[in-house]
Amino acid sequence: MDNNTLLEIRNLRVQYTTERAVGNALNGLNLTIHKGESMGLVGETGAGKTTAALSILNLLPQPAGKITGGDILYNGKFITRMSKRELMDIRGNKISMIFQNPLTSLNPVFSVGEQIGMVIRKHERCSRKEADVKVQALLKMVGIPGGRLHDYPNQFSGGMRQRVGIAAGIALNPELLIADEPTTALDVTIQAQILELMKQLKTQYDTSLLMITHNLGIISELCETVSVIYAGRIIESGTVKEVFGAPAHPYTRGLLGAIPSLEGKRERLHAIPGKIASANNVPEGCAFHPRCERCRECCKKEIPQMIKISLNHEVACFCEKEAE
Ligand SMILES: Nc1ncnc2c1ncn2[C@@H]1O[C@H](COP(=O)(O)OP(=O)(O)OP(=O)(O)O)[C@@H](O)[C@H]1O
Ligand SMILES: [Mg+2]
Repeated sequence: MDNNTLLEIRNLRVQYTTERAVGNALNGLNLTIHKGESMGLVGETGAGKTTAALSILNLLPQPAGKITGGDILYNGKFITRMSKRELMDIRGNKISMIFQNPLTSLNPVFSVGEQIGMVIRKHERCSRKEADVKVQALLKMVGIPGGRLHDYPNQFSGGMRQRVGIAAGIALNPELLIADEPTTALDVTIQAQILELMKQLKTQYDTSLLMITHNLGIISELCETVSVIYAGRIIESGTVKEVFGAPAHPYTRGLLGAIPSLEGKRERLHAIPGKIASANNVPEGCAFHPRCERCRECCKKEIPQMIKISLNHEVACFCEKEAE
């Protein structure tokens, strides 16, 4: 680990236990984010993206979700071994999260001004009035009139609520912002505004970003690096330029092939054939092997480890050779 490392997830395993089944959502996930880096995390539904994000802040749904192995380090400290109190200090202040569903993060009994104000006042010494001014500025930044400060979450539309969630997420200028599909529910104009806002945060405050999205366009617009997740493991990562320009894993190639081309007449998505791997039944060996056209015997038995195929590009596939 070098000085420049902000977040390091090592060999993380997460299991969900419900009455019906045990699901292995993360199966040895490795991920490193450097200071000032913006990383995109992409993968099909159920791949474990939200689980990874929730694990970082110890917010896995209880009692179902449990970290069963591995570690997470933030600024060189094991956050997986921190007390609730220590973690509370990091949450919101250093690491902040914008959730996939804003309803889970907004409390219906407080006005949005009170909620965001509380976040600010918990970590910064300022009066209620000063906090109000700050909240109004934040709301304005996400395109909501500051005068709506005293409105309650149910008085906002879905898209507006999402923007309130974003305002809360950026209220304390976090070092690391984790955004889980933050713009999926928003219309294109607002989406563009939010992306612009995130770009601004990046340049102004050097905020590191983990951007979870299905939208590869957003990743190329906003991120320098990208990690591709499949069945709870990262199977390819590197600079956006290299991974999108020359994808090495058959799964990544499939994902990129699934972008509808703008010029072409093809409007239907080119789906990757086969069934998405389920956490309840992760295939042995390389989890992608049942869907892979390049599958060999070894792929069915052994899990391929990440290898470097160029300076800024790694892949976990037996068909690739390590760079000299
Ligand atoms: N509370 C839960 N109880 C049981 N299983 C869960 C729970 N939450 C997630 N899972 C399972 O864990 C796996 C990973 O889910 P997760 O929500 O992390 O995926 P995701 O990549 O965020 O998907 P999406 O793109 O749909 O948001 C899935 O198989 C899912 O069914
Ligand atoms: Mg998710």
